[in-house]
Amino acid sequence: MTTYRIASIPGDGIGVDVVAQAREVLDRAGSLHGFDFAWTDFDWSCERFLKTGAMMPADGLDQLRDHDAVFLGAIGFPGVPDHVSLWGLLIPIRRAFRQYVNLRPVRLLPGVVSPLAGRSADELEIVIVRENSEGEYSQIGGRHNSGQPDEFAVQQAVFTRVGVSRVIRYAFELARTRGGQLCSATKSNGIIHSMPFWDEVFASIAAEYPDVRSEQSHVDALAARMVLRPDTLDVIVGSNLFGDILSDISAAIVGGLGTAPAANLNPERDFPSMFEPVHGSAPDIAGKGIANPVAQILTGAMMLDHLGETAAAEAVSAAVDAVLASGVRTPDLGGNATTTSVGNAISEALK
Ligand code: NAD
Ligand code: IPM
Ligand code: MN
Repeated sequence: MTTYRIASIPGDGIGVDVVAQAREVLDRAGSLHGFDFAWTDFDWSCERFLKTGAMMPADGLDQLRDHDAVFLGAIGFPGVPDHVSLWGLLIPIRRAFRQYVNLRPVRLLPGVVSPLAGRSADELEIVIVRENSEGEYSQIGGRHNSGQPDEFAVQQAVFTRVGVSRVIRYAFELARTRGGQLCSATKSNGIIHSMPFWDEVFASIAAEYPDVRSEQSHVDALAARMVLRPDTLDVIVGSNLFGDILSDISAAIVGGLGTAPAANLNPERDFPSMFEPVHGSAPDIAGKGIANPVAQILTGAMMLDHLGETAAAEAVSAAVDAVLASGVRTPDLGGNATTTSVGNAISEALK
């Protein structure tokens, strides 16, 4: 029997609750499909930071390296500044393990009502391919003249040819398997250097994929189009910041962040990939037992897929669909079920 070694980092806030539910579902999927998980528990979180002064130990990345994947809830909580918690844990994992693709698919799940009137499920299937290792998320820059009238902050973005090419190529390959349509999020009409460069790389790679209908759209107009004409979109590729924002919009049009999964992929597989949903630690509902575990559970299905357990991945997705269709839902989807009752129902629905 195959045993997968998974590093589990529930993190902060609702991350702890939803990871617990997802692990139960994944363990059960394993027992039904002939494999199991050896979970290594890591308490790396803001709570740990407040006790020890560090989000993770100095050799934290080494501790993760030998796992088949990392399964993460959410990082960040009031009391620790976000730039401290995120640069102390989440971003170093994405970068050190060259997880340069952040894959964020959404679809309208059974029984969930889209805030967009009159849209059927097949008009609302979108996948965002977000650049995940460079771009606007850079540590280059700083704050100056603190407290002075002329105080200012400088932020530099870094776009490399290697970094831009590899994520765009990934998006073209994905579009090829999904009906052949790809839209690049750009802002080349802005007075910035990075996007004309991004567009140039996009155009040169597009020439290698004549079978994929490709286009580019200014990210502001694209944001509006996701709401007004989501049926005209399929795969979208965007920079780190654009992809971040567009992925929350895509989640919103299928009912909210509670159901949106994600995967930080290292396509070369020379380091572990990391599976964490689009949403964060949701401090506004943390500790109330009402967080929707579906996003984390579908993130688990993406991890199963990555591990090659495609039948189990499909079974988990089908169990989620069945439970939502039956009306068992958390308050974000208009129901009154708890995190645990939704998780249990999904485990029980697994076949
Ligand atoms: P958030 O995603 O945590 O919450 C936004 C809104 O969505 C809130 O109203 C929340 O209650 C709701 N929501 C999110 N997930 C939900 C779920 N599973 N079920 C029901 N409702 C859900 O975003 P935020 O408030 O901007 O960020 C909170 C903290 O999380 C910050 O510290 C932020 O930096 C961090 N964060 C971490 C990650 C990550 O680790 N991957 C991702 C996003 C945000
Ligand atoms: C996400 C989050 C993170 C990001 C934050 C918490 C740094 O919003 O995973 O979408 O912007 O990458
Ligand atoms: Mn985000």
